[in-house]
Amino acid sequence: MKIGIVGPGALGTFLAGSLSEGNDILLLGKRERTIDDIEISGKTELKTTVRYTVEPSELRDRELTILCTKSYDTRQAMEVIAPYIDAYVLSLQNGLKNEEIILDSIPDDKVIGGITSHGFLYVGSGKVIHTGKGKTVIGVYPEGMDDDLKKIRDVLNFAGLNVELTDNIKGHIWKKVIVNSGINPITALTGLKNGEILKRKYLKNLLEQVCSESAAIARTEVTLPGGDPVKEAEQVAESTADNRSSMLQDIEHERKTEIDCINGAVIEVGKNKGLDTHYNTILYELVKAREYSYL
Ligand SMILES: NC(=O)c1ccc[n+]([C@@H]2O[C@H](COP(=O)([O-])OP(=O)(O)OC[C@H]3O[C@@H](n4cnc5c(N)ncnc54)[C@H](OP(=O)(O)O)[C@@H]3O)[C@@H](O)[C@H]2O)c1
Repeated sequence: MKIGIVGPGALGTFLAGSLSEGNDILLLGKRERTIDDIEISGKTELKTTVRYTVEPSELRDRELTILCTKSYDTRQAMEVIAPYIDAYVLSLQNGLKNEEIILDSIPDDKVIGGITSHGFLYVGSGKVIHTGKGKTVIGVYPEGMDDDLKKIRDVLNFAGLNVELTDNIKGHIWKKVIVNSGINPITALTGLKNGEILKRKYLKNLLEQVCSESAAIARTEVTLPGGDPVKEAEQVAESTADNRSSMLQDIEHERKTEIDCINGAVIEVGKNKGLDTHYNTILYELVKAREYSYL
């Protein structure tokens, strides 16, 4: 399959490397850099070469384009690449708005939503560590099924992504956002690893409150798949106990966080529906205050 990957960071570098066997991969960045080889270490060990470009028009013949920018770069990336896209775009990014932004610029039936619980750490140009294995769920956004998705699933599975298809991807995206709306800002603000939340009763209580609030808002938009999202947040904190969340890492490295498309997006939907958003709002404003101190 001819696959374009947009964003040569942690996720994009991993996908470019792991999908390179049996596929024609083009990795698109926004600035010139030298990527001689891709080297993946950790849960996957691989060394390979892929074609890197900064020219968006080279995406023209791609059968699938995978968006791997941070959520706050999605709109700008889509503006640049949309004129050259005539097939599927898959987002495996975190947050609520990515697929809606993609829908603004390409035909409805070509947008594939996705979530992945694999973990990756960017080490430098072309170098990434696969830090944790998980599963990936993809589906036509916002809902539905398409036979072409089976081919895409098989291609991603061959690269070890452990993919399931769903006809309710919007529900799965919301479920991950509910979990992230608790774990990410709490760890970012306290500087603690995910598992520490469960060992401190005040933080565990806060996790339950914010995730319950997010879930109540989510239920006005989607049918949530699987079990209780609050229990799932606790399970994720336990199974990733030694991890520093991406939002904590962003704060530690004085980078912009993805809070706007996680808690910020939950607050926006909640307010439109006249629902309580207090817990999300407090965490959102505290994280924004931290960001403001260095951005
Ligand atoms: N890392 C993980 O473990 C993981 C797991 C699951 C989901 N995710 C989600 O996946 C998304 C990407 O995360 P990440 O960790 O891979 O982020 P990242 O390491 O910061 O990589 C993002 C990349 O996108 C590039 N980019 C930005 N705008 C672009 C444009 N217009 N055209 C081409 N490239 C552009 C950035 O380039 P510059 O550096 O030049 O700005 C950077 O290389 C996020 O939504 C994240 O939450 C990540």
